[in-house]
Order: sequence, then C-alpha cells, then structure tokens
Amino acid sequence: MQRNEILSPIVWQAPVLSLLDQRLLPGEEKWVDCASVSAVIAAIKSMVVRGAPAIGITAAYGAVIALNEVRHTQEEIGRQNFAALMNELADARPTAVNLAWAVNSVNDLLTKHRWDDFPAALLALAQEIHQADVTANLCMGELGKDVMVAGQDNPFSVLTHCNTGSLATGGYGTALGVIRSVWASGMLDRVFADETRPWLQGSRLTAWELERDGIPVVLNTDSAAAWLMAKENIRWVVVGADRITANGDVANKIGTYSLAVLAKHHGVRFMVVAPSSTVDMALSSGQEIEIEERTADELTLIGGTRMAPEGIEVVNPVFDVTPASLIDVIVTERGIVESPTLAKMEALF
Ligand code: MRU
Repeated sequence: MQRNEILSPIVWQAPVLSLLDQRLLPGEEKWVDCASVSAVIAAIKSMVVRGAPAIGITAAYGAVIALNEVRHTQEEIGRQNFAALMNELADARPTAVNLAWAVNSVNDLLTKHRWDDFPAALLALAQEIHQADVTANLCMGELGKDVMVAGQDNPFSVLTHCNTGSLATGGYGTALGVIRSVWASGMLDRVFADETRPWLQGSRLTAWELERDGIPVVLNTDSAAAWLMAKENIRWVVVGADRITANGDVANKIGTYSLAVLAKHHGVRFMVVAPSSTVDMALSSGQEIEIEERTADELTLIGGTRMAPEGIEVVNPVFDVTPASLIDVIVTERGIVESPTLAKMEALF
C-alpha cells in the first residue's frame, strides 16, 4: 500500500485538529473539529479518537492548540497555564502510555527551547510524531509479516481483537498493518475479527477497515474464539498494545489475555505489534499498569436499549494484562523480541 493511499483519522488544519468520529462508524463518516484543548481532551475521553498511537498523536497536536491558548500572556503565566493543560491532557485516559509519552516529549522539548521559539518547534514535533508513527507501522508490517509467513507453505488465517488499524494510529496500523502486509504477500486466507465487547471496535472499525481494503474478514463474537481456534486454519493471533512493560507484559483491550490463554492451549502463535512509543521501561511488570474502567452503561445499554436490570452492579475494565510468558513475539519498529523477558527487552530498549 502506498503511503498516500493510507487512511488517516487525524488531520491538522491549523489552527484546528480534525478527527474522524469513531463513535459513528461504520454508519457515518463525520469529522469533529477541535479548536480548543478542552475539545481535544473531550474527544480523547469520549472516544471520538481512540487507539494508543492515535491518542498520542492527538495529544501532540492538542499541545499545539494549548500553546496557542496560553502564549498571549506574560511568559511566566503562560508557562504555568501550559503545564496545567499538559497535566490535564496526560490524564485524559490512563492505560495507553502513548498519551503520557507524547506529553513528556512536549515537556522535554520545552526545556530545550526559548518560549518565543517554542510554538514552531512544537508544531514540528507534533508532525514528526504523526509521520514517525506511519513509518513505524509500515516497518512493523514487514517485520511481522516475515515472522508470520516463515515456515508456512499455504495461506492461513489469523484472529485479531479490537481495532489496531489506520483508525487507531497515524495510518496503516500495528497488528492490522501486519495483516495488511501478509495479505499483500499472498499468504493470508482470511481474518477472524473479534467483535470486541463492549465498545465493538472489532465489528464497527476493524471490519470496516478490512472491507475497504478488500481483505477477507469474518466477524465473530469474542466468545467464539476458542471454538474457531479449534476448528479453523488459524495460525496466529495478532493484537496491538496500549502499554508494554520492561518484562514484556502487555496491556491491551479487555479480552486479549483470554485469547493468549486460548492460543497456548490450541498451539496457535501469539503476536503483539506496537511501536516503541508504547513501551514503558519505567514499569517493571504489568501489575503496575493502571487499568481504565469505563461506565456501566457501556454494558447495560445497547443502542440506548436497556439490556440488564436497572441498578445492577457492573464491572467494566476496558484493558487487561497478558503475561509475557504467553507471548511468542513482540514486534516493534526497532526489531522483534521473541519469548519476551526483561533481558531481551532491555537489549532492544
Ligand atoms: O479503548 P481503545 O479503543 O482505545 O483501545 C484500543 C486498543 O486496545 C488497541 O488494541 C491498542 O490501542 C493498540 S492500537 C494500535
């Protein structure tokens, strides 16, 4: 796929950030224009934009907007207000480290520039983070494809979870990027896409992206995964990540951990694909990752219709942690880590 054919859900049209509204897909393709940092924060919280790399990129452009809001005052006050807005931006969602990573990159940049020079440098950084993500995805697509097809004589199927494509990134995708590259190599039979309860990223976004590309996709309930692994020609489960810790544990969309357990049982290999901006070497294990919990109505209401008794107690963690011991390979743009351990992660990062 050529770079200019890649869908991008994040478009900077100074001084506004336009985001493809992922809450409305696949029914409607509508863009949300964010002209203030509070609109950017609201868009991240409400999932107009979602997916770890995409929210990191959005935060970087959000910083550009924030700076425009605060810089027309005295420098000291401007700096204080900017720092407060950066904290608010970083707190919009807790699990995907790409968000905090982008905000930290912005704060680091500020230490290297005079206040007057900072706006131009910040815009360049946001654009660099955006472009670098697409470049990383294309690279991971090739690396992951080479690992997947090695030793395979015939086309095979893969199973994926959540949405890790152009919509979740700067473009092309992480796990979905690998799927795109395997399809281009002629070795992909079809993709089984978990619907991904409760937000349905699989059915609403992954199925939409793959159909647009003409890649054969079959939609299944999350609970069909074991049966499909037993019955179908599925050789790999391939997923993205929201945070990878120093020992190789992986936080990703709720249900990923179950898939890794099932894959082990069925002899299906398990691949995680994520850029280095998702790697958090400051945390020693997945136990330390804050797991976002979202509201009960994501479970109790479907399309506004009540599906559970009024007042029922609900638990809605939206990510889980897959232990490194269940992962066959982590693919990053810096290289691959097979059977991840602390020593192997340290060698690469
Ligand atoms: O809640 P979401 O939709 O932001 O969760 C997204 C995921 O869990 C993705 O798998 C992950 O961010 C990797 S995207 C390249």
